[in-house]
Amino acid sequence: MNSPRLGVNIDHVATIRNARGEKYPSPLKAALLAKKFGADSITIHLREDRRHINDQDLIFIKKNLKIPLNLEMAPTKEMLKISLKYKPNFVCIVPEKRKEITTEGGLNLKYNLILIKKIIKRLKKSKIRVSLFIEPNIKDIKIAKKINADCVEIHVGKFCILHNKKKNTKKEFEKIKKSIHFANEIGLEAHAGHGITFSSAKILSRIKGIKEFNIGHFLIAESIFIGMKKCIKIFKKILKK
Ligand code: PXP
Repeated sequence: MNSPRLGVNIDHVATIRNARGEKYPSPLKAALLAKKFGADSITIHLREDRRHINDQDLIFIKKNLKIPLNLEMAPTKEMLKISLKYKPNFVCIVPEKRKEITTEGGLNLKYNLILIKKIIKRLKKSKIRVSLFIEPNIKDIKIAKKINADCVEIHVGKFCILHNKKKNTKKEFEKIKKSIHFANEIGLEAHAGHGITFSSAKILSRIKGIKEFNIGHFLIAESIFIGMKKCIKIFKKILKK
């Protein structure tokens, strides 16, 4: 069986850049280096408030990157327009709240269903692979299939936080495992993302059927100490098991 792919999320390179309003560190440079060091795709989240990645980053990265670009975006008309204009290879639809520090949970598919369905249809017409960032539950996976998503990305953040705090992760792990298996059974590609570290990746990689891991904050943070090359190498080795 093929190893899961590693998507490297570079949002927080832009966070550091924006802290000083300088041109460095460059998200484009980070994307190109991550590719060189073995990333299978690059993820960027163009937030409505542009707190890290901005429109220019999206344009430069799309133009220069030779591996798939995965654009995370809120289900809004503005974001749909941008994605159809710049055509990332993949789109991952995520919920967004202005005040949150990071994406706190999965999409509320009930609330947004009609709009999300319309966005999926439009993106797929433009040959963009669409995934939905959802909580690990069967109900949402069924809806994702019904509205024609290609993939689901399971929000594993809760599991990762419990794991970091050395708390009991059994219930959360089982939910994720069940969700991944169910997605595979009904023909949806299954991904995992949010809050993943070396240590949580080791445990999550035991679940069969995760085709892609999207990892950002820890990977960029750890790169400060050991370099991006080594960091990506370690993640690839963990995911290979
Ligand atoms: N996947 C999705 C859908 C996300 O929204 C994020 C955060 O932007 C990630 C993965 C990466 O999470 P982290 O930065 O915690 O590794």
